[in-house]
Amino acid sequence: MLSVAKQLYGNALIFQELLHFVQHDNDWTMSYQAIYEAYAPIYDAIGQGRFSTRMAAWALARLAENDIRPAHVLDLACGTGEAALAFAATGCEVAGVDRSAAMLEIARGKARDAGYKIEFLHGDMRDLEPRTKNQEPDAPADAARFSVLGSRFDLVTCFFDSMNYLVDDGDLDRVYAGVARLLRSGGYLLFDLNTAAEYATWDERDCVTHDGRDCLVYNQLNYDPDARLARGRIVWFVRELDRWWRGEETHVERAWGDDEVRAALAGAGLALVGRYDLTGGIAAEASPRVIYVARRADAATDNLERGTQS
Ligand SMILES: C[S@@+](CC[C@H](N)C(=O)[O-])C[C@H]1O[C@@H](n2cnc3c(N)ncnc32)[C@H](O)[C@@H]1O
Repeated sequence: MLSVAKQLYGNALIFQELLHFVQHDNDWTMSYQAIYEAYAPIYDAIGQGRFSTRMAAWALARLAENDIRPAHVLDLACGTGEAALAFAATGCEVAGVDRSAAMLEIARGKARDAGYKIEFLHGDMRDLEPRTKNQEPDAPADAARFSVLGSRFDLVTCFFDSMNYLVDDGDLDRVYAGVARLLRSGGYLLFDLNTAAEYATWDERDCVTHDGRDCLVYNQLNYDPDARLARGRIVWFVRELDRWWRGEETHVERAWGDDEVRAALAGAGLALVGRYDLTGGIAAEASPRVIYVARRADAATDNLERGTQS
């Protein structure tokens, strides 16, 4: 009886929080908060990394159709390591980079449990260029180590709209310049992006993304088409023995235009070879998510070339 009462009390608290959450005034001028820190264990526990497992399989299959079998893979914004583990399972030598220490800790634990030797580095994917301490006094500790990764990767990936988290002008240029340096000649870059068509559906949209017995995750989504910035406010409730704890993070993403992506790739010497939707077909204007495949331009074109006409 007591536990039923506690559960009802817990549910009432959740209802109160949800009400507060729904009524919360949308403030776009909030200061920057660390993201994917408190949310990291929730992200992993509710299986959000599974999208990148499928993307890793898709990437390997798509390349294999053209007889390309990458041996060295770097996963940018690797999160809790699902794609890195999937690549390692096929025998690739894998490295991962992420800005969130909490996501990396989970990734490292999973790699250890699976017996894979994956190099997970803490850092910002915009800092893949080697920088001296003097140039970047605030550079993350592992930034210098990117330089020792060398130009050896056959494939660099970035999954689950992680590049939409780059919101400043010039961010794509910075990332692609670093990628071009780390790819071997003829190596591939493969990433997916949410499009403006997707964010147009984030129109004051509220959704429960996970509704389990011990965990509830609620998202409040907004999009400002003028600023081309989307905001996802994530609130979660997790049961711990006889109480619930609540956490919250707000994530901001940018709707990069296809023209901006193409210009940034070209500027870094990466040739666009394909734009796909999630079915593997050629991406259309209205596709909510586009998978880009690009190649370090100093190699001959290949059969992957699809849908690159603007
Ligand atoms: C939606 S999660 C995707 C994680 C992983 N790719 C997956 O599919 O599970 C976005 C990830 O991007 C990372 N991230 C965002 N901006 C970043 C940046 N500038 N450099 C490195 N990682 C970044 C976050 O820490 C988070 O782990």
